[in-house]
Amino acid sequence: MTRERIGVGVVGVGMMGRRHAENAARSIPEARLAAVFDADRALAGRVGREIDADACGSLEELLERSDVRVVVIASPRRFHAEQAIGALSRGKDVLLEKPMGLSLEECDRIIAAAKHGRSRLQIGFMRRYDSAYAEAKRLLSSGALGQALLVRAVHRDREETNLPASSGITEMMLESTIHDFDLSRFLLGDEIASVATTAAVLCHTRDAHGHAPNAALNSVRFAGGALADIETYWGAQYAYDVRTEVVCAEGTALVGQHPRSQLAVYTRDGATRDLFPGFLERFADAYRAELSDFVSGVAEHRPPAVSGLDGRAAVAAALAGVASYESGKAEAVATTASPREPSPRR
Ligand SMILES: NC(=O)c1ccc[n+]([C@@H]2O[C@H](COP(=O)([O-])OP(=O)(O)OC[C@H]3O[C@@H](n4cnc5c(N)ncnc54)[C@H](O)[C@@H]3O)[C@@H](O)[C@H]2O)c1
Repeated sequence: MTRERIGVGVVGVGMMGRRHAENAARSIPEARLAAVFDADRALAGRVGREIDADACGSLEELLERSDVRVVVIASPRRFHAEQAIGALSRGKDVLLEKPMGLSLEECDRIIAAAKHGRSRLQIGFMRRYDSAYAEAKRLLSSGALGQALLVRAVHRDREETNLPASSGITEMMLESTIHDFDLSRFLLGDEIASVATTAAVLCHTRDAHGHAPNAALNSVRFAGGALADIETYWGAQYAYDVRTEVVCAEGTALVGQHPRSQLAVYTRDGATRDLFPGFLERFADAYRAELSDFVSGVAEHRPPAVSGLDGRAAVAAALAGVASYESGKAEAVATTASPREPSPRR
């Protein structure tokens, strides 16, 4: 028996949303791209024509369509809460890009809307769908390497930052480091207790002195005693480079590293093997697997693989990183939304 394809609507069709729209239209047999919406109407029209989907003139119009069952939200983060709540409260299932929201209070409202609308909500931490990370998770859960003790993670973006100093470290924590906060929680199966973040404007962006930091080192403590050491760096030039190691009592699991006996040197011109220009290339399969799993889960009434609570925990860790950078001390990760929550700068 062939199942009816699930209609997908994509909100925000910039870099990330366009990829989700293309995947829904072309790569996921269970899905049908029904509609797109973008605040930039011309862009929505262009993408709609190119991928053969209706371009809606408003979010409302997209949400009112009965052929849109799944809404993928890939607009800028400041719109996530309002748009996700709008979609969830109409009973749509929502795949919401990271970061889930700007504050824990926003995350709580999104989670409440999903509960109220009995809708499925998943947060876009696609690395969990990457085959190497998924295999690492299976291995760690099997106990074959003994207790997981220490995570070392690197996330380098090729492009440098051009943010004003006033944006501080918020952008980096909520946009980039948040992936490693989620990934380390996922791999260790534990909650982050505290974050100590140090950050700087490094060498080749020195001309832009006064800009927001383009490098951060994050020391993370987990509730169960494990540690994580997370580097986030924008401006690597040579590639988009993501690596992770989980050191366990009886071995270590590495993702994104090369054989030990080889020296590898990467430059903008000399990068040779296994390097990716950006996240769309490195995680192409993971983005496909993520949307495919979410869409097939709608028909099968499966709980989403990355829950609202996962999204909230990652936002809490990112906000602790921002607070730590500002205070110069390790900051405990908040578990409840506080009326004094730092209000996001962007
Ligand atoms: N999971 C990942 O690996 C990953 C990678 C990149 C970006 N993202 C996330 O995806 C989201 C979008 O990032 P991006 O890099 O695609 O940004 P982008 O700037 O390329 O695209 C954002 C799009 O949203 C549109 N937009 C602005 N306001 C809107 C509104 N109110 N309603 C609808 N559309 C609106 C813009 O016109 C633009 O086309 C962010 O939350 C970002 O963190 C996730």
